[in-house]
Amino acid sequence: MKIAILGDIHGNIEALKAAYDAAASNNVEKIYHLGDLGGYAPFANEVVCFLIEHGIEGVQGNYDDAVANNKEHCGCKYEDMIQSTMATQSFEWTKKHATQKSKDYMKDLPFEIAFSVHDKKVKIFHATPLKNNLYWHNDRDEDFFLHMARKAEADIMIYGHTHIPYRKNIGNKVFINAGSVGKPKDGDTRTCVCIVDITLNEVRTDFLRISYNVDKVASAIIERGLPSYFAEKLRAGK
Ligand SMILES: [Fe+2]
Repeated sequence: MKIAILGDIHGNIEALKAAYDAAASNNVEKIYHLGDLGGYAPFANEVVCFLIEHGIEGVQGNYDDAVANNKEHCGCKYEDMIQSTMATQSFEWTKKHATQKSKDYMKDLPFEIAFSVHDKKVKIFHATPLKNNLYWHNDRDEDFFLHMARKAEADIMIYGHTHIPYRKNIGNKVFINAGSVGKPKDGDTRTCVCIVDITLNEVRTDFLRISYNVDKVASAIIERGLPSYFAEKLRAGK
């Protein structure tokens, strides 16, 4: 079974369209999104409409939960005061501009999606099987990975949240961070689509990187009144 995963889209409709086209042309059976549909870029409503129109199922991210439920904080972690101030502005902007339809969609997203392929249990969630705002980077120790696998009760785990893609195998467990469609943080400005092909004998992972009109989205960030800080981040892939 070949599937495509669209991680953290964050209001970036141009990246989503490019990612979707790449997924569709790879003959995948199904496309899933990993939540965090708004924030940082101004097109959360367009992203939600696109996902509904194209029948793309997905899970709830911390940002979706916070926007839909009008929380005080998006549940994200900040490295400094500037980032914290900018992120707060982005969060307030998104809560104000998200339509009721978008909020209802975000609110109704499940925490996780589970299914089996060739006797392998697959689980898809936003960040970890326990919490949707914990950062699960590649450099966590093996015990952490195996603890998460036990909690997920799965063989193949697919998630995002950190915006930095990786694939790791420990024993017969496979861990896939699908990266981010709309706000990559690995220094590569291109959108990221993760293709996962689960066959009887192996799990293949491909991280496709596709160019799209970054400038168009960066300009829209500024024109729509979001902090220009996020336009600069998008142009730097950070
Ligand atoms: Fe995110």
